[in-house]
Amino acid sequence: MSKQSSVCIYNEFDPVTLAPTNDQTARRIEELGLERLELRGRSVLDIGCNNGLASFLCATSGAVDVHAVDVNPDLVELVKAQAQARGLNCIRAEMTGFDQLDAQRDQADVVLFLEVLHWVVGQGMSIREAMRRLWALTRETLVMEFPWSVSEPSISRQTALTEAEYNSQLILEWLTLCFDRVEFRCFNTYFQGQPGSCRALVVCSRPKVSVFLDDVLPGISRVEREVTPNLWRVAGSGNPVHTVKRVSADAPMRKLPRGLLETFVSEISAGGRLVVPRFIAHGGRFLLDGVKGESSYVAYPWLEGVMAEADSMEALEAAYACALAGISAYEQLEAGKRGSLAEQGLADLHHSVRRVHPDRAGWTGPVTDEFWGVNHGDVHTRNVIRLTGQLQLLDFDNCDVGVRGMDILWSLVLVTEDDPATVSGWVRRWRALAPQVPLEAVQVQLKAHCLGWEENWRRHSQPDLELWARMKLSLGLVLGAVSQLEQAE
Ligand SMILES: C[S@@+](CC[C@H](N)C(=O)[O-])C[C@H]1O[C@@H](n2cnc3c(N)ncnc32)[C@H](O)[C@@H]1O
Repeated sequence: MSKQSSVCIYNEFDPVTLAPTNDQTARRIEELGLERLELRGRSVLDIGCNNGLASFLCATSGAVDVHAVDVNPDLVELVKAQAQARGLNCIRAEMTGFDQLDAQRDQADVVLFLEVLHWVVGQGMSIREAMRRLWALTRETLVMEFPWSVSEPSISRQTALTEAEYNSQLILEWLTLCFDRVEFRCFNTYFQGQPGSCRALVVCSRPKVSVFLDDVLPGISRVEREVTPNLWRVAGSGNPVHTVKRVSADAPMRKLPRGLLETFVSEISAGGRLVVPRFIAHGGRFLLDGVKGESSYVAYPWLEGVMAEADSMEALEAAYACALAGISAYEQLEAGKRGSLAEQGLADLHHSVRRVHPDRAGWTGPVTDEFWGVNHGDVHTRNVIRLTGQLQLLDFDNCDVGVRGMDILWSLVLVTEDDPATVSGWVRRWRALAPQVPLEAVQVQLKAHCLGWEENWRRHSQPDLELWARMKLSLGLVLGAVSQLEQAE
C-alpha cells in the first residue's frame, strides 16, 4: 500500500504549516471541532490515526501526550517523521492494532475513534467488543465518527458487513450503555463525492462503571438495578444475586492490609449477626487489591431491602446493635490473633489524630496497641438497610483503624438527634463494653473525626452546613456525657 493511496482525501494537510490543503479537509477540521474539547494537559489516544491529522490538531491544542496508533506501518512512519520535523515531541506514533491496545497501559483521557469502527467490525470484531474496548480505554471522553449504515458506499465497497452486524441503532445503544453522556454533534458534510454518504460524529463522556461488570466480576452478567450511583444489584448465571459496590481508591478500607481485612470480615460473618461483604478473587487477585488510584469492587450478599430512613429511632438502635456486635467480634479476634499494630503495618494509620491536632503531633498518650482496633468508621443510617423488619449493616468500605469503640460512639452521635435524653444511657452502655479505652483518647479521636469531616466539607463545593450543625450539636451532647462519666470514674 503506498503512502499516498492510504492517506484519506479529507485528511490532506501541509506538513510544515499543518494547514489543510483542500476544501474537504478544511471543512472536516471545522466539523470535528477538536479544539473545543479542552485538550490542555490531557492525554489522547488516536486509534487508526492514518496520516495523523487529528493527532496533530490535538498536539497543537495543548494535549500533553498523544498516542497515535495505526496498523499501516507506512502511515505510522509518516506520522513519526512529520511529528519529528515539527518538533511535536508529545506525539508517540506506534504500529498497533485496536485489538492489541491494553486498558491498563493505553488508557487515555480522550480517545479518538474516527472512521475506524466499520473497519474493525469488517475485520471480525463485534460492535459489543469494540464498545467494551473503547469504554475500557477511555478515561474521560470518546470522540467517535462512524458511517451511519451498511448502505454507505465506503462500507459496501470495502466490506461484506450486514445490517445485523453493523447498524447505528446498535452503536448508539451501546454508547448509551457505556457512557453517562452521549452527545450527537452532527452528520458530517465534508465527505463529498459519494452519493448517499452519511456519517455521524458523537462525543461521549463519563464512562459508566456499572457496564461490563463481567470483566471485573467473573460470572456476573447484568446489572438488575442501580440502587445508588455506585451500588448495584447484579445477577449472573448460576450465581446468587448480590450487591456490588464500587470502593473508591482512597476508601479507608483500602488502607488495611488485606490479611487483616479478610480475617476481620470472616470473623464477623461467622457470628452471623452482620451482613458483610464477600470478596471476589479476580484473575487470581483479590478485588480490593486495585492498582493505586483505581477504584475497585466489593460484593455484598444482596438483600431485598430498602435504605433505612434517617429519622427512625428503631433504625438507629439497630445500627447501634450491629456496631456493638462488630466490635465484640473484633475484640475476640484481637485478643488472640491480631498482633501488634506495627507488625500489621498499621502504625501509620494513626495519623488522623495527628493531622487535625498538630499540637499533639508527638502524642502517644495512654493509647497503646491494645486500645486500637478496626472500626466501622461510618455507621450512619444510609449505610444500613432494613431486612424483613430488621436492620443490618451493609457497608464496610469505611472500615479503618481507630480507638476501639469509635463506631459505637458515632452511632451515639446519630442517636442523640432523635432523643437527647438517651445520650447518657448510650454512653454508659458503650463504656461497659470498652472500659479499657481511656476517655481522653476517645474524646480526642471523636473531635478529630469531626474536624476531618469539617475539612472535607469545606473543600466540597456545596458543603452540607445544616448537617454539620446537627453533628456539632450531637457531638457536644456526647462529649458532655463522656465528661460526666469521667467525673463519675
Ligand atoms: C478511514 S481511515 C480513518 C483515519 C483517521 N482516523 C481519520 O478519521 O482521519 C481508517 C484508518 O484505520 C486504520 N485501521 C484499520 N484497521 C485498524 C485496526 N484494527 N487497528 C488500528 N487501525 C486500523 C487504517 O489503516 C486507516 O488508517
